[in-house]
Amino acid sequence: MSGAFAFDDTYRARAETIVARYPEGRQQSAVIPLLDLAQRQAGGWLRTEAIEYVAAYLGMPKIRVLEVASFYSMFNLEPVGTNFVQLCRTTPCWLRGSDDLRAVAKEVTGCELGETSEDGVFTVVEVECLGACCNAPMVQINDDYYEDLTADSFRVVLEALKCGETPETGSQSGRKGSEPAGELTSLNGVGKGA
Ligand code: FES
Repeated sequence: MSGAFAFDDTYRARAETIVARYPEGRQQSAVIPLLDLAQRQAGGWLRTEAIEYVAAYLGMPKIRVLEVASFYSMFNLEPVGTNFVQLCRTTPCWLRGSDDLRAVAKEVTGCELGETSEDGVFTVVEVECLGACCNAPMVQINDDYYEDLTADSFRVVLEALKCGETPETGSQSGRKGSEPAGELTSLNGVGKGA
């Protein structure tokens, strides 16, 4: 995709709301949320025209906006698949089996890390801690977290996405939040007068 970029009415209204949150003269502080809006409108990645548009919108040098877009892993500078799969590889997820999840991702999507599937349905990347370590191993796909994964449950999630279905998000083991996976092992007497 190439050519001019501009926020449509919906995204422009959102951008105006965000920019208005900052004090007069500090509107450039909105660069990250505006890049996020641009990426969402543009289908998951930021082509040069979108970066230039955000720069002009905020009155910033293009290079400053490109620096931000190229620094943060949540911004993509190349096209991505419909499902942007981010495998967490940091220690807690790794200890709990993230290598197995990477193998399943390759098997189901055909993607090596950093690749997009030929049908455009998946892009698979590895990222650092996504802040849900107590539900490790976990994976972020687009805006959703899939947690407490096993190789089998991750395969079910990916196969469902491949078929255009919407799998259940959150813990895949059935536990609520980050409650203990088994019986309580500490603070058992709290509230019981013990
Ligand atoms: S290590 Fe995976 S979410 Fe923190």
